[in-house]
Amino acid sequence: MTPADVPAAERVSDEGFFELDSRMRRADAPEPQRRSERHRAVWIERTLHLVEHDPGGCWVAEDESGMVGMATSFRRETLWCLATYAVLPGRQGGGIGKPLLAAAMDHGRACSRAMLSSSSDGKAVRIYRQAGFDLHPQMYLAGTVDRSAIPVVEKVRDGSAADIDLMDSLDRAARGAGHGVDHELMLRTWRLLVSDTSTGAGYAYLDERGRLGLLAASNRRTAVRLLWAALAEGPELANVPHVTSANQWVLDVAFAARLVLHQEGYLGLRGMKPPSPYVHNGALL
Ligand SMILES: CC(C)(COP(=O)(O)OP(=O)(O)OC[C@H]1O[C@@H](n2cnc3c(N)ncnc32)[C@H](O)[C@@H]1OP(=O)(O)O)[C@@H](O)C(=O)NCCC(=O)NCCS
Repeated sequence: MTPADVPAAERVSDEGFFELDSRMRRADAPEPQRRSERHRAVWIERTLHLVEHDPGGCWVAEDESGMVGMATSFRRETLWCLATYAVLPGRQGGGIGKPLLAAAMDHGRACSRAMLSSSSDGKAVRIYRQAGFDLHPQMYLAGTVDRSAIPVVEKVRDGSAADIDLMDSLDRAARGAGHGVDHELMLRTWRLLVSDTSTGAGYAYLDERGRLGLLAASNRRTAVRLLWAALAEGPELANVPHVTSANQWVLDVAFAARLVLHQEGYLGLRGMKPPSPYVHNGALL
């Protein structure tokens, strides 16, 4: 993938995920939506960042009709992460996806750990398990926050680039590698909350929609404090995604805030256990 391919890759990924959302939709879930202009712009900015830093991890599949599949991945220290992976709906199941993933994984061949956030797609989970990933179910919590339940949150401040060293050390403890240059991207597009006290440290990003994008902390007490701060600062309709069973503390906060639980997709891991206390990001993990 080159920077010039990124807009077409965005179209392939939107097609792939829109069809997946329509196919897998739960009865109580809202109608799947096409990506908004804002969401497309965020996707493109993130993917340009990945192509810039990890050109060897980003691949497209083409035929005479144009681009039919894409995969983006990156290395941070000794960790390889898969960011996005999709084939056009009409072309899935025909052998396009597997060589794409193999090319992306080759970029991580020297890495001792690997992470990805899988959809519930039957083909995706089959391919990931064949590639040696352990699959850990992900929980999602969503709903209208009961504002009266939010405690007084102290010792949380807005963060900045001056916190990157602290965040990278928390990332290393949680997942074996800092987010490095990805913090620069997240700081450009998202809001950062930091808690740094004598008893513990942690950080949380609120994404472009104000929802929890990533959270890491040195202990549960700090993680709980940051999640409450994120809910207090976030939108009326809250969404806490990508919660693994290793992070039951999220359920305590989310249920106290009157959010509702459902299960969706899997955290795929190689060479590591589910990070905790940690809420991963779907693409930057
Ligand atoms: C996941 C995805 C990228 C894989 O690409 P693909 O071109 O469909 O994959 P391939 O055809 O190379 O391989 C599909 C595998 O699933 C199997 N398969 C095909 N149809 C299947 C089905 N309905 N259910 C389960 N497995 C199926 C194939 O037999 C093949 O496995 P095998 O080689 O062991 O026999 C693509 O299906 C996709 O875009 N899905 C929707 C978006 C998504 O979920 N992306 C992953 C996000 S993490």
